[in-house]
Amino acid sequence: METGKTTKTVQVPHLYRLVLVLITLVVVAQLVQRIRLSRKRTAYARAAGALPAKVYPQRERILGWDLFKENITSLKAHTFLADQYGRFQRMGVNTFEVTALGRTIHTTIEPENLKTIQAVDFKKWGLGERRKIAFRPLLGHGIFTEDGAPWAHSREMLRPNFARTQIGDLPTFEKHVQHLVAAVPHDNSTVDLSELFFRLTMDSATEFLFGESTESLTNNSHEGFAESFTRGQDFIANASRWGAWAKLFPANKQFKHDQKFVHDFVDYYVEKGLAKRDQLLKEKSNAEKPGRYVFIDELVRQTTDPIAIRSELLNILLAGRDTTASLLTNVWHILSTRPDIWSRLQTEIATLDGEIPTFEGLKNLKYLKALLNESLRLHPVVPGNAREAYEDTVLPVGGGPDGRAPLFIKKGSSVGWSVYTMHRRKDYFGEDAEEFKPERWLDDPETGKKGLRPGWEYLPFNGGARICLGQQFALTEASYTTVRLCQAFGGIESRDSRPWTEGLTLTCVNLHGARVALTPVEG
Ligand code: HEM
Ligand SMILES: *[C@@H]1O[C@H](CO)[C@@H](O)[C@H](O)[C@H]1NC(C)=O
Ligand SMILES: *[C@@H]1O[C@H](CO)[C@@H](O)[C@H](O)[C@H]1NC(C)=O
Ligand SMILES: *[C@@H]1O[C@H](CO)[C@@H](O)[C@H](O)[C@H]1NC(C)=O
Ligand SMILES: *[C@@H]1O[C@H](CO)[C@@H](O)[C@H](O)[C@H]1NC(C)=O
Ligand SMILES: *[C@@H]1O[C@H](CO)[C@@H](O)[C@H](O)[C@H]1NC(C)=O
Repeated sequence: METGKTTKTVQVPHLYRLVLVLITLVVVAQLVQRIRLSRKRTAYARAAGALPAKVYPQRERILGWDLFKENITSLKAHTFLADQYGRFQRMGVNTFEVTALGRTIHTTIEPENLKTIQAVDFKKWGLGERRKIAFRPLLGHGIFTEDGAPWAHSREMLRPNFARTQIGDLPTFEKHVQHLVAAVPHDNSTVDLSELFFRLTMDSATEFLFGESTESLTNNSHEGFAESFTRGQDFIANASRWGAWAKLFPANKQFKHDQKFVHDFVDYYVEKGLAKRDQLLKEKSNAEKPGRYVFIDELVRQTTDPIAIRSELLNILLAGRDTTASLLTNVWHILSTRPDIWSRLQTEIATLDGEIPTFEGLKNLKYLKALLNESLRLHPVVPGNAREAYEDTVLPVGGGPDGRAPLFIKKGSSVGWSVYTMHRRKDYFGEDAEEFKPERWLDDPETGKKGLRPGWEYLPFNGGARICLGQQFALTEASYTTVRLCQAFGGIESRDSRPWTEGLTLTCVNLHGARVALTPVEG
């Protein structure tokens, strides 16, 4: 008994000491490692000539709570993009550092930096956890939610389909546009074209992706899918705003219902597609034969994984539906408020003599193209974006008091950019950068002045490795729709005097839509 007691009292301090020594060792080892890493980083940054960026003044730089509250206020006031623009103007530089929800991040509007992130060094950059965590419950694993090898695999699988179908399927567009024209009141009453454009792009996207259209412009019985998809998308957009905190927003009952509805809806088409796989494999790709091109058939040729097919289809639907509808809404809002632009566009479209445009014919409509370019410049529908550094790296500019020195970015840190603000840079777009002027894109035969041919300072579709796959599809759909509406209606009147206002969800569209009255062409 006695001996047992003594050994116990001796052993306990022994154990304590051992644990203490171990803890100290771990702490020291970590400290040494940190110091080494920090030295390595300093040396790396110095060798690259990097300097720290200007720091945005914040009352408190641990959480950066003030900026977060400012952002919420701006979002509610629909001035988020304009306020961000204001910050760049006040800072007097094109790159600066902020503390956002406890993380140090950099914000930039430098074309050189965006070229480095998106093209030159794209392998060093990724989406970060934010988009992945928030988007996957609805979209699964697809091109929009992946990085690295899985992304490359998706892109490789999807890209050829886009390349072959980039001209779009004009006869199918025509059918949907006729539904659109029929849905516009012909009696001088007010219509919000925005609502119709969102139906149009849903109808054409589902037809192109699934082989069957929701026909929401003519038939109310399919509305469930569009509603569930829109609400689900809204939910994941909200979640993604909370960054790494998105986990605090678990799926609610409504979201679970929408998620199931959307998945079941698409699975029906996936099953149908897989059932005719053998037959599809025997046929030529339907891109090579005339007639309708159906995306799902191409995917079924390439994989038998039903979840992968469903996910890719939903990723493309998300990428392509609201974006194109938002562009059309912004364009028609401008048309209703600018008689000069309306009449010049009508004059150009009159050269078609009322004929349905061909793909070549659309290409020749230079003013229309300039109008779309200008809309995407001042009202970019994807107005900002961000990437996370997957290793220590250096951006070409943004460091030092004038922002001309290279800038070191450490692994795990995010860089955000504002396309909205960059598209307003006077050093690139001129003193009149804030004015809506389609002419700036056109050569002027009188003065010999060349139209704008911007590089990385104009990024409505991103650039480099992850450049939008649907750019041609979107521009064709928006041009075709605009031409056919102009051919059906000779007069336009705005029914809403409020100026263009930020309606920011995953994309950006005029909050007040495009409320107009259209006058049919006689005869
Ligand atoms: C005006 C219309 C559109 C705009 C402004 C637009 C813009 C963009 C932008 C900025 C990105 C890059 C997103 C990022 O990497 O964070 C993107 C990616 C993408 N877009 Fe579009 N888009 C439009 C229409 C479409 C359409 C109609 C489709 C398909 C039919 C489409 C398919 C895609 C796909 C698949 C990606 C992902 C590419 C990748 O990550 O490799 N887009 N788009
Ligand atoms: C607030 O907005 C700025 C852009 O103006 C952005 O860089 C920053 O990440 C946002 N911060 C938070 C906490 O959301
Ligand atoms: C349409 O209605 C407005 C008044 O709301 C009127 O000023 C305009 O003349 C009408 N246009 C046509 C073509 O009837
Ligand atoms: C509308 O859709 C329903 C459900 O698919 C279908 O049964 C019905 O025939 C459609 N109506 C029209 C007018 O196309
Ligand atoms: C997303 O957030 C907005 C603004 O806070 C809110 O009005 C909307 O209901 C939310 N949507 C969903 C689906 O949670
Ligand atoms: C529109 O912008 C694109 C991209 O910069 C450019 O290639 C094209 O020439 C422009 N077209 C017109 C007519 O402005």
